[in-house]
Amino acid sequence: MPTPNVRVFPDLAALTAAAKQFVLEQATGAIAQRGQFMLALAGGNTPKPLYESLVCADTPWSRWHIFWGDERYVPLDHPDSNAGMAFQAWLNHVPIPKNQIHPMPTADADPQTAADRYEQILRQTFGIREGEVPSFDLILLGMGPDGHTASLFPHTAALTVGDRLITVGNKDGQPRLTFTVPLINHARQILFLVTGANKQTALRHIFSGTTDPHLYPARLITGNALWFLDAAAAEGVVANA
Ligand code: 6PG
Repeated sequence: MPTPNVRVFPDLAALTAAAKQFVLEQATGAIAQRGQFMLALAGGNTPKPLYESLVCADTPWSRWHIFWGDERYVPLDHPDSNAGMAFQAWLNHVPIPKNQIHPMPTADADPQTAADRYEQILRQTFGIREGEVPSFDLILLGMGPDGHTASLFPHTAALTVGDRLITVGNKDGQPRLTFTVPLINHARQILFLVTGANKQTALRHIFSGTTDPHLYPARLITGNALWFLDAAAAEGVVANA
């Protein structure tokens, strides 16, 4: 694992402000170079203030395309829905064309069918063939206390899927949909948003670069990643944090 590129912020508010600026800079660059911004969102609690802060951003929303890096297998109006959270916090309040917002499909009886469906949506939107891997401009990720990221949980089959873009994750027997490791590592830029003292142990293992990645799956993310940590998460992990 390359030496992690880490920035530490005193608290969630400071981290959120820096993340907003970073996302908008990535959007400006991508739109200038390629005419559009392909962004994948993280779920969980940490990114919610960022999504809320983007409502008032001055950016050409018509050029944004929104995907999700993972999803709980629940309907959009369920309180656990990652897409539901992002719509309420941000997407319902900005003029991104509806056909450029791609929530993961969670209505199929079989999650594998849903994973295959989302993979087709990705291929069509990026205009790529079977076997090709698209490059997102930016993928936002969180990390759990167990070192999981997206819905890539320790010691699960999803960790070793190398021939798909989307696969079925498994959280304590509950299905999830998730980007695979190759898709995440193929992004132009990855941004981890990690807060809370309960993340320190996992971060220490992940940044040591020596731990079994099946124990701490975020270690499998070896692409162009930047880590934004709050002081509570970074304490005892990052020097002078
Ligand atoms: C999910 C997420 C997951 C999340 C981590 C961290 O669907 O739960 O995508 O990977 O990012 O669990 O969550 P917090 O930000 O709430 O700590």
